[in-house]
Amino acid sequence: MTSIYEKLKYLLRPETVAVIGAAREPHKIGHQVLKNLIEGGFSRNKIFPINPHAESILGLKCYPSVKNVPQPVDMAVIVVPARIVPRVLEDCVEKGVKAVAVISSGFKEIGKAEEEKKLVEIARKGGIRLLGPNIVGICDTVRSMNASFCQELPEKGDIAFITQSGALGIALIGWTKLKHIGLSDLVSIGNKADVDEVDLIEFFGEDPYTKVITLYLEGISRGREFYAIAKKVSKKKPIIILKAGKAERTISAIKSHTGSLAGSDVAYDAVFKQAGVIRAPTFPDLFDWAIAFSKLPLPSGENVVILTNGGGAGVMATDEAEIRGIKLMDIPPDLADKIREYMPPFGSVYNPIDLTGMATKDWYRGSLEVLLEDPRVHAVLVIYCHTAQTEPRDIGDAILEAIKSIGKSKPVVASFIGGEECHKECERLTAEGVPCYESPERAVVALSALYNYWRFLKHKETYPVALDVDKERAYEIIRRAVEEGRKALTAYESAMVAKAYGIPVPEQALAKSEEEAVNVAEKIGYPLVLSIESPHILHKTEVGGVKVGLNSAEEVAKAYNEIMESVAKRAPQAEIRGVVVRKMIPEGREVIIGMHRDPAIGPLLMFGSGGILVELLKDVSFRVSPLSIEDVYEMIKETKAYKMLKGFRGMPEADIEKVVDVILRTAKLAEDIPEILDIDINPVFVFERGKGCLAADVKVVLK
Ligand code: ACO
Repeated sequence: MTSIYEKLKYLLRPETVAVIGAAREPHKIGHQVLKNLIEGGFSRNKIFPINPHAESILGLKCYPSVKNVPQPVDMAVIVVPARIVPRVLEDCVEKGVKAVAVISSGFKEIGKAEEEKKLVEIARKGGIRLLGPNIVGICDTVRSMNASFCQELPEKGDIAFITQSGALGIALIGWTKLKHIGLSDLVSIGNKADVDEVDLIEFFGEDPYTKVITLYLEGISRGREFYAIAKKVSKKKPIIILKAGKAERTISAIKSHTGSLAGSDVAYDAVFKQAGVIRAPTFPDLFDWAIAFSKLPLPSGENVVILTNGGGAGVMATDEAEIRGIKLMDIPPDLADKIREYMPPFGSVYNPIDLTGMATKDWYRGSLEVLLEDPRVHAVLVIYCHTAQTEPRDIGDAILEAIKSIGKSKPVVASFIGGEECHKECERLTAEGVPCYESPERAVVALSALYNYWRFLKHKETYPVALDVDKERAYEIIRRAVEEGRKALTAYESAMVAKAYGIPVPEQALAKSEEEAVNVAEKIGYPLVLSIESPHILHKTEVGGVKVGLNSAEEVAKAYNEIMESVAKRAPQAEIRGVVVRKMIPEGREVIIGMHRDPAIGPLLMFGSGGILVELLKDVSFRVSPLSIEDVYEMIKETKAYKMLKGFRGMPEADIEKVVDVILRTAKLAEDIPEILDIDINPVFVFERGKGCLAADVKVVLK
């Protein structure tokens, strides 16, 4: 089977390009695309303008149809009005074109989803991969191919940028140029009718010219595939995403803009975390981090040292480091002694190392060399505040000379604070391979992106070995409810499904008569709870359907009859299936375990503080299935509920291992039975270590 790299090579690294709709007038987009291709530096004799009304354009011979081109055509850029696109696409199929980029608008984004589907059908039938429609095109600096109506190619580099917003792509060309950020490619994906971010992440994962993959996305339609591919690729190269569309208001704006529905943001966050994808909140962050990845080696350990000539800047960096989970190394005495040679007696060898405002070029160079030489130091942040003592250029030289003399095996980032000279030096240092930022915090955040990725690469994944579950039993209960056209299971059914999956529930049984209720009660033991079992009664207490704290056979018989009478009166239409006799359980620490099936991403597991205040506390965390055991522990540790389970104020540790087991079993239940939409287990009472937990209330909602 041909790999996605081989297939998309024709789209992103073609040998020959046709422009279908190469217009004669300079203000038209088709004309601009042709001009860009020529001026971008793509070989003139490999460009074929197509226009039935012209002999030649911009000095190139024009063909009435792509079918008339005398050479094979790898890729065609389509820039004709939407209504003509299917026709020219058919021509591409006949010609044997391998890939097309459809710039034309007027499809799904304006409600013409059928027309868009037709394009995909034609392309697929003809073995063509289709990018777009509704895009600005492709800017590829590897082949100097500006197959777009962007004003110019970006600077050459090794960062690939995939954008769902065309206008943003155009704007970012100028912005990245200003900041000297080099790109390997800029690809606009528009409506993503065929080629989407998943394909492109896979392509750039293989692409030898790309070191870092960055994306601007509004929605991900193939969530499961995204998760699998991103996880695979991010083990090879970093993926940084700016995912917009958090706010409800934005969601509708996106709908009208690209016709895509933004998925649930919580699900994205979980996917990104598990797939090792780094989520950037803004464009400056995205590119700050991309530059760090593009220029630097990854650290080999946690010890970071800050070297500064300004105490205040050092404190700012220290604060940010703490927020970002960056470990500042305690400088060992022998290392401190070596560094003292490069500072006045009143300098500080604590971390941040303060060379003081008197710091010279030689001090910076000498102390940095000492740090780079010491194997206990894993990364360095050099901060410089412009003083009359030194020139920014000298300090820049000091950093570059130190790295040159010791070798570039550790990440070194810098922050130069000052005016014009500092700005210029920042740019030079970045270009020379030392990412330099205008504030210490930004440098720390960029370093923390490297660390987060490094930790992801080290992160182990252990998957639970075959959990013992009774899928047939659970499926039988669900099948019956589905056949009855129900949208939810009753409490008893839900508990039985949970039980079939090894999720511990209180001992219980369904009784259909007073006598049966008493017999069951004697078997289970007291105290007990009785509750009505009916698919039509949601709020049992309101119809007198629950009796708690029953301690004898007599109380159970009485409660049974009272429940039946009350329900017959207050819910006469409801179908009654009996009464559930359930053991009352001791209360433990309350947590919630839940599952929601995201339409794009699949089962999303939730853990957090449980009980009636779930919505108010919002102390929950999410992960997507399939879950490794490490994922579950991380998910639990992200919540305050974890601290409660660990025990505080003399409370012993709770049975966290059993909670992990219940989460894994809930995930398996969701994976095994796709008819389930939501599962709510709330509260789960967690007891002391070794004593397990009990799912006090289970709710299963069906699709
Ligand atoms: N094969 C080849 N060329 C043809 C054919 C054909 N079968 N039929 C007509 N043409 C020629 C036309 O003759 C014309 O050339 P001419 O001006 O020399 O006569 C050329 O193709 C273009 O056709 P026009 O009808 O003039 O179309 P126009 O250039 O006005 O618009 C376009 C075409 C740009 C594709 C427009 O329909 C469109 O979709 N614009 C929006 C593009 C866009 O914004 N994309 C999304 C970017 S993302 C963002 O948000 C920025």
